[in-house]
Amino acid sequence: MKTVTWITLAMIVGIVLAITSAWSQDDMTIVDNAAFDNPQRTPSVFVHDAHNEAAGIDDCAECHHVYEDGKRLEDESSEDQSCSDCHELTGAGEGPPLIKAFHTNCKGCHQAQKKGPIMCGECHIK
Ligand code: HEC
Ligand code: HEC
Ligand code: HEC
Ligand code: HEC
Repeated sequence: MKTVTWITLAMIVGIVLAITSAWSQDDMTIVDNAAFDNPQRTPSVFVHDAHNEAAGIDDCAECHHVYEDGKRLEDESSEDQSCSDCHELTGAGEGPPLIKAFHTNCKGCHQAQKKGPIMCGECHIK
């Protein structure tokens, strides 16, 4: 009986650890594509913290934004939400559809700064 209790406890601790580490951005290396029904590509590479450091982005709301009446709020950010919480696949609701939201955000900045990948295979690595 005791052994069973310990095994159960160890499993619970393991699950909790797995969940909390999956929720933190510091070990994120790709953008999860689970929100897409039938992904056509490999998930895009994106080493969250290293990318933002190399790119010199200090403001989380550069990507995790909050809008009100079509205006981006200065002191608000939405890193506790997924892009897909607001951007739907179909583009229903406010803002661009999910795929466009990602491509405009990522490629838009790379194009504007003339730095960072633009070609499909540089992000969706085979
Ligand atoms: C700067 C990086 C980047 C580039 C360049 C890029 N994508 Fe993406 N793409 C993403 C991200 C981020 C997503 C969101 C989900 C993910 O990680 O795949 C995405 C999602 C997608 C999706 C929806 C999910 C799926 O796999 O079906 C498709 C299709 C796609 N991209 C195709 C393309 C094509 C075609 C090109 C070139 C014309 C391209 N992408 C270039 C970053 C990029
Ligand atoms: C809390 C809801 C919310 C979340 C979370 C969110 N967005 Fe948005 N986003 C919006 C709304 C609303 C608009 C439309 C703004 C307007 O009225 O033009 C928008 C607009 C955009 C646009 C077009 C305008 C622009 O900034 O270039 C892009 C691209 C975009 N979002 C990408 C993303 C990405 C990528 C993520 C995740 C990292 C994300 N969004 C998370 C609500 C959200
Ligand atoms: C260059 C764009 C960008 C910037 C800047 C950025 N993030 Fe993110 N972050 C993302 C994307 C894309 C995701 C994945 C969102 C999704 O899957 O819907 C993400 C996910 C996250 C997550 C969830 C991690 C997970 O595994 O689900 C957290 C927490 C987070 N970011 C925090 C932050 C904080 C804090 C900052 C500012 C210090 C920040 N981010 C700046 C793009 C960015
Ligand atoms: C606000 C600007 C900005 C946004 C938004 C942005 N990037 Fe970048 N990205 C950069 C810059 C600048 C570089 C070049 C950094 C350097 O000089 O090493 C870069 C480099 C990269 C690289 C190559 C270097 C590396 O870190 O592996 C990848 C891959 C990349 N970005 C993916 C993405 C994806 C995916 C997104 C969207 C989720 C995104 N970026 C959003 C500015 C941005």
